[in-house]
Amino acid sequence: MSQTLRSVVRGTGSALPARVMSNQDFEGVVETSDEWIRQRTGIARRHIAAPEETTVSLAEVAARRALEMAGFEPADIDLVILATATPNNTFPASSVQVQDRLGIRRGFAFDLQAVCSGFVYALSTADLYLKAGMATRALVIGAETFSRIVDWTDRGTCVLFGDGAGAVVLEAMPGEGSNADRGVLTSQLRADGIHGDKLYVDGGPSTTGTVGKLRMEGREVFKHAVGMITDVIEASFTALDIGPDDIDWFVPHQANRRIIDASAKKLGIPPEKVVITVEDHGNTSAASIPLAIDRAVRDGRIQQEQLVLLEAMGGGFTWGAVVLRW
Ligand code: UT7
Repeated sequence: MSQTLRSVVRGTGSALPARVMSNQDFEGVVETSDEWIRQRTGIARRHIAAPEETTVSLAEVAARRALEMAGFEPADIDLVILATATPNNTFPASSVQVQDRLGIRRGFAFDLQAVCSGFVYALSTADLYLKAGMATRALVIGAETFSRIVDWTDRGTCVLFGDGAGAVVLEAMPGEGSNADRGVLTSQLRADGIHGDKLYVDGGPSTTGTVGKLRMEGREVFKHAVGMITDVIEASFTALDIGPDDIDWFVPHQANRRIIDASAKKLGIPPEKVVITVEDHGNTSAASIPLAIDRAVRDGRIQQEQLVLLEAMGGGFTWGAVVLRW
């Protein structure tokens, strides 16, 4: 086997706003009920950012925690990719603001916009830079404050989303080029803009000159979700010549418990291997996977050498999967 570089996870971290909003708290905001939200989505509560908590401030905390677990200093990092659809400003990029707050004065940083698939896209992108030798240690962050772009009068969307951030530190390390290597083993990314009007924000710098509010045809998104998710996971299995039994942990994007359960069932992944945080976090878009990863690492579920499957689907549509050995 030929020597190859692999992007290995060295640390994880996360951050959640202090304020928790329960389903009951929504009963006075829109016409809804705890029972409807739980049954249709599996969500019980979500964290909502206070005015001084931003995508950048949450990302900074998550990044510091990931660096601490890795035993790295900020100066060890030469690439920061921040996946977000809710940046602090149109520009400069929130990633550059995080890089500055961490005191990193070298390397490069950029934001990546693939909405809920942002973390999967960012991990895949960082992997390519590390493998190409353009960077050696990367911070890959998913951070969002969707509470700022939801329409708080639309019960079909405002109950679904939450705020938060998650981060991983990747380091380029030598591997053999086989499935036994630690690190990212395959990434499968997809996009199809024909679905753009099913989940979008009705504003932007070049159109309305405003930030806009999130609009979603939930039922339409739901209809496509399971098929797209399972397609891209099956492509990952084919690429590595593995099957569901080889997976130790399935960490899906946390949008809806019913989508997660149906995808796992269709793929033949048993419930005990699925990491689920949607009950406590709601849908945090690009932050949902790294938030779930950090929980499962810190509670001892995800262990070194285990095979972990990530998957996401969201606005665009964009979707994708990553398989990595921890
Ligand atoms: O992360 C990006 C990807 N996003 C997703 O994956 C979201 C995908 N979609 C979903 O998760 C689900 O479609 C929702 C949770 C958004 C909605 O669940 P659903 O089972 O598809 O419900 P529905 O949209 O078909 O609505 C059923 C009923 C409607 O009433 P009628 O028209 O049947 O009288 C809605 O008006 O539920 C009503 N409804 C609500 N009722 C109480 C919608 N939202 C609420 C609410 N509380 N919050």
